[in-house]
Amino acid sequence: MEKLIGPKKIKIAVFISGKGSNLNNLIKFSKLKNYPFLISLIISNTKKAEGLRFSKKYGIEKKIIKYEKNLQIDKKILKILKKRNIKLICLAGFMKILSKNFIKKFQGKIINIHPSLLPKYKGLNTHLRAIQNKEKYAGCSVHYVTSKLDSGKIILQKKVKISKKETDVSLAKKVLKKEHLIYPAAIKKILN
Ligand code: GRF
Repeated sequence: MEKLIGPKKIKIAVFISGKGSNLNNLIKFSKLKNYPFLISLIISNTKKAEGLRFSKKYGIEKKIIKYEKNLQIDKKILKILKKRNIKLICLAGFMKILSKNFIKKFQGKIINIHPSLLPKYKGLNTHLRAIQNKEKYAGCSVHYVTSKLDSGKIILQKKVKISKKETDVSLAKKVLKKEHLIYPAAIKKILN
């Protein structure tokens, strides 16, 4: 990953589909001097994503792109990223699976946050499955994105204890707090 020289910050695009609490959190961290990145683009696959409001709030450019796995769309996004000198993509609740071609073209520069202790519980409904399996711990992972779902190299993880009365909703809240700690830290780690 490119090293930082002086006050220059690496430009990041965050891909979202929903609430955008991780996006909001990353933007906040990006404003700190010792966090070497800048969120300069928000991409959503739907105009309904609540997180798009952070575009207006912080004056960050947004693009709504109905993502589908095809070369045309890949080309369109890659052009947008290149033009803005985006060096890293952070997926944060992005509910689409990127094409193999796209991942290859942006190799090693796409990361994701996943609400489980990978390699356990890839995919959806992670919290419910962890509770049903009577796991003692749950957590979250930041990892590189490869063409195999939720399987790339892990950058950082954080675990939380599952309490006796835990529900998927309470666990999601607990884990999200940890997500907000490890995502900025993971970016810092790979950029340093
Ligand atoms: C997070 O739990 C993240 O781990 C998962 O989707 C959720 C997104 O939440 N991939 P938010 O939109 O960042 O609030």
